Amino acid sequence: MRFGHFDDDRREYVIDRPDTPHPWINYLGTGEFIGIISNTAAGYTFYRDARLRRLTRYRYNNVPTDEDGRFLYLRDDADGSYWSPTWRPARRPLEEYRCRHGLGYTSIASLHAGIQARITTLVPVGKTMEVWSVEVTNRRHEAAELSLFSAVEFCLWNAFDDATNFQRNLNIGEVRVSNDTIIHCTEFRERRNHVASFSCSERLAGFETQRDAFLGPYRGWSRPLAVERGTTSDAIATGGYPIAAQHVRWTLEPGETKRVYFALGYHELDKNAASGQGGRSVPDPEPIEAAVSPLLTSAGFDEALRELRAYWDRMLGTLHAATGDDDVDRMINIWNPYQCAVTYTVSRSASRYESGIGRGIGFRDANQDLLGAVHMLPQHARSRILDLASTQLISGGAYHQYQPLTKQGNDAIGSGFNDDPLWLIHATCAYLKETGDWAVLDEAAPYGDDAAGRETLYEHLLRAANYTLDRRGPHGLPLIGRADWNDCLNLNSHSSDPDEPFQTVPIEDGAIAESVLIAGLFCIAARDLADVALRRNDRAAAHRLAEADRAMRDAIRSHGWDGGWFLRAYDAAGMPVGSSTNGEGRIFIEPQGICTMAAIGLDDGRARRALDAVGEQLATEHGLLLLQPAYAGYRTNLGEISSYPPGYKENGSVFCHTNPWIVIAECLLGRGDRAWDYALRINPSHREAISEVHECEPYVYAQMIAGRDASDHGKARNSWLTGTASWAYVAMTQWILGVRPTFDGLVVDPCIPADLKTFSVVRSFRDARYEIHVSNPDGVCRGIRSIHVDGTPLTGDRLPMFGDGETHVVDVRMGRAA
Ligand code: GLC
Ligand code: GLC
Repeated sequence: MRFGHFDDDRREYVIDRPDTPHPWINYLGTGEFIGIISNTAAGYTFYRDARLRRLTRYRYNNVPTDEDGRFLYLRDDADGSYWSPTWRPARRPLEEYRCRHGLGYTSIASLHAGIQARITTLVPVGKTMEVWSVEVTNRRHEAAELSLFSAVEFCLWNAFDDATNFQRNLNIGEVRVSNDTIIHCTEFRERRNHVASFSCSERLAGFETQRDAFLGPYRGWSRPLAVERGTTSDAIATGGYPIAAQHVRWTLEPGETKRVYFALGYHELDKNAASGQGGRSVPDPEPIEAAVSPLLTSAGFDEALRELRAYWDRMLGTLHAATGDDDVDRMINIWNPYQCAVTYTVSRSASRYESGIGRGIGFRDANQDLLGAVHMLPQHARSRILDLASTQLISGGAYHQYQPLTKQGNDAIGSGFNDDPLWLIHATCAYLKETGDWAVLDEAAPYGDDAAGRETLYEHLLRAANYTLDRRGPHGLPLIGRADWNDCLNLNSHSSDPDEPFQTVPIEDGAIAESVLIAGLFCIAARDLADVALRRNDRAAAHRLAEADRAMRDAIRSHGWDGGWFLRAYDAAGMPVGSSTNGEGRIFIEPQGICTMAAIGLDDGRARRALDAVGEQLATEHGLLLLQPAYAGYRTNLGEISSYPPGYKENGSVFCHTNPWIVIAECLLGRGDRAWDYALRINPSHREAISEVHECEPYVYAQMIAGRDASDHGKARNSWLTGTASWAYVAMTQWILGVRPTFDGLVVDPCIPADLKTFSVVRSFRDARYEIHVSNPDGVCRGIRSIHVDGTPLTGDRLPMFGDGETHVVDVRMGRAA
């Protein structure tokens, strides 16, 4: 069952009813100001950091769900009836409803009692504000006396404090009203230099700044007293729950349309610009009004929408593919890169499932998120890599996350994940392959625990590799530390106290527990880094890395192979995990993908056997399971992984992030039919028809889909912010379609289903545009018979680097070599 449909021409997902199985969300903002918006306009906004600079309040565990956010009410002043044109929060039935989630904007249209409304919300490119355009049309045969009420509820900046420290924060709220702009200035009197504003393009009939005055005692947002009465009190709030609510009153003739604009802004002000010791304690409204007012006009808003479309045209124009399969094409061309960009921007911090409090920018996450975004945002990726390197530790290790506002690493969500540092090598190499910007390696960056000890990025990378080499266990495999990519494989925690969070409990690392995943990851990183070292003429490092790579491969072959597939780990007692000797958790997906990607077992048939085992034991119609059989009960030697009910999360769900690894691995084996099939199983558009089962948005990947052991197999959770986005994009574009950046340029080496006869990819790369047409007359999965570039035959599969800003036509004929 579907709840909407794709409109590919407009690059929108169109939702036909407000009561989707879950709120289906979108993201507004391309830079520092971010808004989350659901299909009923709920959600919240923040500036750069969802924890430290939260503008509006959102209650995750609220009932009804998704109540908070952008509040709008239309009131028929003739009879006092009122409704919300976005359905929520009043939830009165709408005769028509349609939500269009587009790229960086959302538009909700509805009809109630002959009054039509359309609300379009966006964050203009380069601005720190969210703007709403509200269009109201009278479709009745007689004039309508209408009131429009808008409201936002402010968060008292620090979202954690806001949700916990009520004895203080119920006494600190402050607002100012200047002309019709409501300014939220809590704590501006002391150490803050920033405020939020809410403005309206119309002259107000009234306003409200205190939540309880607007709602009335013991009422919720569905029945505000002010709306019921049709009047506000125009009072200035101190303490309590500061809000900004505005009242506009009109008479609309039959057929008449009014357009009104609202803007929610974030402003940093110069506090010393005026009087008083320690500077101003009251914000100056002038710069605020100057920043906001140009956007409160049709010309300003329409221009902002045009700029936003142009922004996404540029972003998505970097790569365009046509395979003839709608599910694949719309993911490659629209939704997957869009999700990659969003995930890259906010990491795992803020979604319907991430509260914006727990995590900032994750080290391993951000490095992987970069893989799917670097071709669109190369400049930004460069600075992100340097930010990440700056939180690296002198040991070569890494803070597991840093706070986006301060860029300082913190251990609040744990530390000692021994895979972390290697991802920096992975991301940097992806950046180098995309851009050829070798100079980045000479940029100096400090260390998170030694700000003075600046070294070049290249040296940071060498330390990252050494971190693994310095920490090897009894089998010569990398020690796992707290956990590896699988946060929940806590082999050194041995926790039996329910009050200890798995991710922060002190670990007892006896230097026994080893990870085969990190071993494979190391081999991928070491080969790339050795290549980099050679190009820098650092032969000694290249040699060391090549030796280390060889030793690690030997260790994997001798101790990381279980007989039918790659082993997952050794626990703290030296017992195998992910082995046929285990009753539960006999096979894990991660090492099958990662070791094959490291080219281990490609020459001796092990990779093929490992992937066959994945196909036999882990493949379901909803995707590939993380492990089988799921753990039925809790095991102290394994930790959080066994804490989840069977089939959920790391305990045997389809943990989607890992699926593209297998897709890539299948491509390395040349099995294009399987690669494509696996990619489709988790493709959200492909799953749209079973939205009642999947439940999450059909336009973006989710972190997990409940596994075979769960009663609701197929149900997705944790949509939007997942490494799946990047990896799915990399797998599809670089490995299946095979247009792959390398250090020396773009390679074309597809691995496709045998019955895919033609496809094309247009790719901008290092200042040239490649129009690649692939034909597959012999019906092969992989293999190239000939390539012509601008009509001239090419030897090898690497396209020339033109760098001339021109378009070049590449004809690729697949088939068995002549
Ligand atoms: C989550 C985390 C990521 C981790 C994965 C597996 O997606 O953000 O860092 O690798 O779970 O545990
Ligand atoms: C990852 C995992 C999750 C775990 C969390 C701990 O996100 O997906 O299961 O609880 O890490 O931080």
